[in-house]
Amino acid sequence: MSLHDKFGRQITDLRISVTDRCNFRCVYCRSANPEHNPNGHELLSWDELERLVRILVGLGIRKVRVTGGEPLARPGLEQFIARLARLGIRDLSMTTNGLALAGCCDRLVRAGLHRINISLDSLDPVKFERITRTRSLPQVLEGIHAAQASPLRPVKVNAVLVRGLNDDEVESFAEFARAQDLVMRFIEFMPLDADRHWTRDLVVPAAEVKRRIEARWPLVPLPHEPSETARKFRFADGRGEIGLIAPVSQPFCGFCSRIRITADGKLRTCLFSREEYDLRPLLRTGASDEQIAAAICNRVLEKEAGHRINEPDFVPPARTMVFIGG
Ligand code: 5AD
Ligand code: SF4
Repeated sequence: MSLHDKFGRQITDLRISVTDRCNFRCVYCRSANPEHNPNGHELLSWDELERLVRILVGLGIRKVRVTGGEPLARPGLEQFIARLARLGIRDLSMTTNGLALAGCCDRLVRAGLHRINISLDSLDPVKFERITRTRSLPQVLEGIHAAQASPLRPVKVNAVLVRGLNDDEVESFAEFARAQDLVMRFIEFMPLDADRHWTRDLVVPAAEVKRRIEARWPLVPLPHEPSETARKFRFADGRGEIGLIAPVSQPFCGFCSRIRITADGKLRTCLFSREEYDLRPLLRTGASDEQIAAAICNRVLEKEAGHRINEPDFVPPARTMVFIGG
């Protein structure tokens, strides 16, 4: 058995969410209104999550990214990383908002984490607060520095650009990448926000980001795998790298190699899936590993061709990013 879909795409990449809680409420993801941020979905246990990853590694998953919500907000995360590391995953990474990272970075490394993605949507404390609704910029910067001082490589820093909020910071982020010698990734805003404020006008196209950075610092394209989400560039004259992630203006679904599992045990074959496949009944009624593997393979066969954001009849998924896992 192996994981492929009816379009011939092989699935090698898993994003697994360990919690739908988060200590930030970023405008492009969650709501200021607590009623629009329901929690309390019943989470899979660490044992159940590890079992699913083990089954999926047996089906050819080589790349695992632990995500949330905010993964560090769930007690026991470090031990879970250690359990995943023992499964012999070739590429084991985590996405975090960075708030609690400085305090646990060393332990994550010792647990066997390979690399890390940290969200940073503004370098300006006022705008950072407007976007994340917290005053945590100093802690996040400390988290980034801790990652830089650790063996985690590459350190990727993710900014979701939203027109009128932080699109004036493209050049500052590029300078940050150069000064800190890290990978700065610019992500187009996708219609996955809890308040449903997304409009096309709020998307800052990757082509604009590239044009603006290139006007200051010549860029050299770097090779990338077809299934990678980012188009990568280094600076001709120095350190640092940028990545442009353009799901809206230049969809990359044709080479997608990803599936997702939500913290409450739903298999999602696309970020924008309208339907999810609940794995809990199988996990909790004594199904064998083989039965679970077969169910996952069947479901993955039906993976969507792509996201359809640009189709006139596009309907966003019922669940938003914090529940799906970035
Ligand atoms: N559009 C694009 N990216 C998003 N993320 C969360 N919500 C959105 C959205 N609506 C990204 C964050 C984070 C990752 C978990 O998902 O930048 O890095
Ligand atoms: Fe893959 Fe769906 Fe994302 Fe397209 S939108 S890249 S198919 S997960």
